Amino acid sequence: MDAILVRGGTELNGTIPIAGAKNACLTLMPATLLTDEPLTLTNAPRLSDIRTMTQLLQSLGAEVQSLQGGQVLALSSHDVTSQRAEYDIVRKMRASVLVLGPLLARFGRAEVSLPGGCAIGARPVDLHLRALEAMGAEMDLREGYIHARAPAGGLRGATVDFPFVSVGATENALMAATLARGTTVLRNAAREPEIVDLAQCLRRMGARISGEGSDTIEIEGVAALGGATHRVVLDRIELGTYMLAPAIAGGSVELAGGRIDLVAAFAEKLAATGVEIAETATGLRVSRGPERIRPVDVATAPFPGFPTDLQAQMMAHLATASGVSVLEERIFENRFMHAPELARMGARIEVQGGTARVQGVERLRGAPVMATDLRASVSLILAGLAAEGETLVKRVYHLDRGYERLEAKLGAVGARIERVSE
Ligand code: UD1
Repeated sequence: MDAILVRGGTELNGTIPIAGAKNACLTLMPATLLTDEPLTLTNAPRLSDIRTMTQLLQSLGAEVQSLQGGQVLALSSHDVTSQRAEYDIVRKMRASVLVLGPLLARFGRAEVSLPGGCAIGARPVDLHLRALEAMGAEMDLREGYIHARAPAGGLRGATVDFPFVSVGATENALMAATLARGTTVLRNAAREPEIVDLAQCLRRMGARISGEGSDTIEIEGVAALGGATHRVVLDRIELGTYMLAPAIAGGSVELAGGRIDLVAAFAEKLAATGVEIAETATGLRVSRGPERIRPVDVATAPFPGFPTDLQAQMMAHLATASGVSVLEERIFENRFMHAPELARMGARIEVQGGTARVQGVERLRGAPVMATDLRASVSLILAGLAAEGETLVKRVYHLDRGYERLEAKLGAVGARIERVSE
């Protein structure tokens, strides 16, 4: 099994290019199921999660061609032969459940295994099911599968009031509503940039959508959608992660393509620790001087709040602040698995329920550590960049789900990092 070896203590200088968003691509790909015409996605990230979604779509009979080294995906659901998403694929990735809404809307039926995915809490799919039920679908849970059927004549437009914000449930409902009869209103909808990106792509395919990016989205169903070409939005989580690299290790790095509006809440907290963030003509530049960073309190929230997907990385940064920081995780229970691993590197972190109290220490020390989920793994790599000595991060298959060419990108700005096999 591969591991990543980081030798800490070098400053980072140079440019890191930011890829297209994994989470946007994972909802744009299933949108192909809504039409029998071709959908082309450009700026796709090259990640194992994208390959998993490719396999899932192919298992349904869709065609997915990976072009230009994986940066362009040419999809066609002209010849879909199955509406059943098997456990063997779905268990690898929770986002597989995003085929449910499109299958149901276009074919009137879907069977989707209940998902697995990152071990960061219970993560049920009840909101997905309730939204589709509101549109007239009948749902039945049997043998680990969701069995869904649309009423005769297809899904109906409906008003869906989400009791709390769910990115995935908003995406499933939004896709399904594009082909429903009549108007659908999604209230308390997620406002994430990936939702805006999905709505823009669906509109290119002929959908009638307004209000994306606000908490109320209105969709007027149409009889059929057509083909489109769409460029995947920038990955704001990859952006935030690499903004933290010079923030933790020191130096000055430009994040090519970086946009401050995608990471505003995070950037504000990062700046409060004493790190400099500047907009440039081609992206964002993050610089850190020799001074110790300051502590800051952080609470995760749906967009435009501080993203839960950057909480672990921020904790690695705050581990060496000049005082106490309090991190509150409000989206997922059980998302502090990185804390005991960071503690093995000398961090002082106390976790109580959804709150972590981080007492900054002067320096972290390298250690063998274990990655437990995607964002936890990368937080350990970041910590290793500034730690004394060597950090060996094991179980890196999590990293390959969400960061393309991580060693190459960090190596190019001066990090001493390599992939080793154990
Ligand atoms: C998406 C992102 C993930 C990110 C998360 C929150 C993708 C592929 N993944 O995940 O990286 O961390 O948003 O920003 O885009 N919940 C329920 N019932 C449901 C749905 C969700 O109780 O039916 C709960 C979840 O357990 C969680 C919270 O709602 O506590 C938010 O989850 P949600 O926004 O749905 O996250 P995902 O779409 O799974």
